Amino acid sequence: MVCIRKATIDDLLAMQACNLFCLPENYQMKYYFYHILSWPQLLYVAEDYGGKIVGYVLAKMEEESSECHGHITSLAVLRTHRKLGLATKLMTAAQNAMEQVFGADYVSLHVRKSNRAAFHLYTETLGYKIHDVEAKYYADGEDAYDMRKQLKGKQYHTHQHHHHHHHHHGGGCCSGEAVKSGDVKAVAAE
Ligand code: ACO
Repeated sequence: MVCIRKATIDDLLAMQACNLFCLPENYQMKYYFYHILSWPQLLYVAEDYGGKIVGYVLAKMEEESSECHGHITSLAVLRTHRKLGLATKLMTAAQNAMEQVFGADYVSLHVRKSNRAAFHLYTETLGYKIHDVEAKYYADGEDAYDMRKQLKGKQYHTHQHHHHHHHHHGGGCCSGEAVKSGDVKAVAAE
């Protein structure tokens, strides 16, 4: 059995290892720390019965734009554990937290044009749409699809034309109600 759970600080090295196995886009450890310290609700791992990390999703909130939205920085599942629905579950967990904790309007991501498995997951399984094409986005010159998925809360509010009830309090959309020093400590102590 494989379980999906929120990532902790102790998972970051294994997440980085999984990333190195699966993708050419790699990040320094400080970038993983930046994610978990800023948005601890948005990192999930898939852990097998032996405690091995076999998949992860690394996500964040975008702070610079006027619209509040989440962004999937990186997603991967080890080859041995693919086609079991794990990526779908990791993505759903991160998307739900973006919406519920941070009130995100939509979620964005980049994917290589040639990445058929991921493209299928995003378009067919999860309902993402191509928003734009970014020419030569990747270091090797390949183009990226800039994809977006509207989150439920936004669709509801759009139809209602009412001012909406935020799930979060103070500090703007991307700060989130749970980003307090206590929560970061709790994550570290889990
Ligand atoms: N070809 C076609 N469809 C596929 C493939 C494939 N090789 N692999 C999965 N799918 C389909 C599944 O059949 C499933 O479709 P369904 O919902 O209609 O049944 C859907 O995609 C989701 O499958 P999951 O089992 O949830 O996906 P999985 O756990 O296998 O992980 C992933 C998919 C993450 C793309 C995996 O193949 C992987 O790690 N690849 C290498 C890393 C990568 O490409 N990551 C994404 C980069 S983009 C980014 O990080 C933002």
